[in-house]
Amino acid sequence: MKKYLVTGGAGFIGRNFISYLFKKYDRAVKVINLDKLTYAGNPDNMLEFKDRPEFEFVKGDICDAALVEKIMPGIDIVVNFAAESHVDRSIGSPDDFIKTDIFGAFVLLEAARKNNVEKFIQISTDEVYGSIIKGSFKETDTLEPSSPYSASKAGADRLAYSYFVTFQLPVIITRCSNNFGPFQYPEKLISLFVTNAIENKTLPIYGKGENVRDWIYVLDHCDAIDFLIQAGENGQIYNIGGGNERTNLEITDLILETLNKPAGLKKYVGDRPGHDFRYSVDTEKLRRLGWTPKHEFTEAMEETIEWYNQNSWWWKKIKSGDFLKYYKQQYQTEL
Ligand SMILES: NC(=O)c1ccc[n+]([C@@H]2O[C@H](COP(=O)([O-])OP(=O)(O)OC[C@H]3O[C@@H](n4cnc5c(N)ncnc54)[C@H](O)[C@@H]3O)[C@@H](O)[C@H]2O)c1
Repeated sequence: MKKYLVTGGAGFIGRNFISYLFKKYDRAVKVINLDKLTYAGNPDNMLEFKDRPEFEFVKGDICDAALVEKIMPGIDIVVNFAAESHVDRSIGSPDDFIKTDIFGAFVLLEAARKNNVEKFIQISTDEVYGSIIKGSFKETDTLEPSSPYSASKAGADRLAYSYFVTFQLPVIITRCSNNFGPFQYPEKLISLFVTNAIENKTLPIYGKGENVRDWIYVLDHCDAIDFLIQAGENGQIYNIGGGNERTNLEITDLILETLNKPAGLKKYVGDRPGHDFRYSVDTEKLRRLGWTPKHEFTEAMEETIEWYNQNSWWWKKIKSGDFLKYYKQQYQTEL
């Protein structure tokens, strides 16, 4: 029986990871989810597993050392998803990014070190490398993060590495590309555009829509993390990617086409300041270890779009109140 501490498990990837663990290991795992329930954390995301005896939810902050030290004894595996995660919000108010993404990671690493955990997975991001016009970043490439979000993630990434070198904490760092799938807070490109399109609302495209991202289905990301917990080497960094590079415009067209909506819903808006043009990671190291994504991109996109179609109760609750204020400020238009 392995006991996991998953942080940020009421958010998008964390909740999908917990769901993945229970589907795969059933009663052979115990999971504590430590989540502060920020605007992005949602109790509805835990409905699927909240009543399992193997699951415990602790509402709290990863920056709260006393709380983290109380939870950590007996934990075998820590997977740190908790973060402020939206680049746009990091431009408007970086404070929480520095606190949670860097200081919060430090608090977890300290408690993990004192309690001799078996594995500490620091969920970093491909954004720590910065933008690349041609080719793909390898794990050994220099980090050139360019937003307060990616800079704070890079800080935690390197801090986690320092705990391996200095204290021999069994740390593994993952740098994954852009995720999509069910339960993604509808401020991110795919979840926002799908839900807007369903309601016949405009899709606000930054700049000319030429920015390129590599997309991975969230369950492939979860699968890769689980694989690395079993097969990854301590102290190593692993890029994770889907191998599906698309411009934002290609993503937009695919969504409109799948939902049978008119191209007239596209609306070009001013660009994001410091908008990285392209992210791309070389995933050879992970592939050599024996892992490849299992989901085909177009099929996973269709399933995802269908999920948002079937679960409007989930995102309609979110897209109200403060979200509308945020949207108006961000895109200079009403939702
Ligand atoms: N979404 C992506 O495409 C992507 C890609 C690569 C890496 N990542 C990384 O994966 C992780 C999860 O991303 P996501 O998209 O699921 O984010 P998300 O914003 O959907 O979820 C983040 C969760 O963390 C919680 N949280 C925030 N601050 C906290 C704190 N101080 N203490 C405890 N909980 C706190 C929130 O309540 C929320 O539930 C992040 O670390 C992110 O940097 C995301």
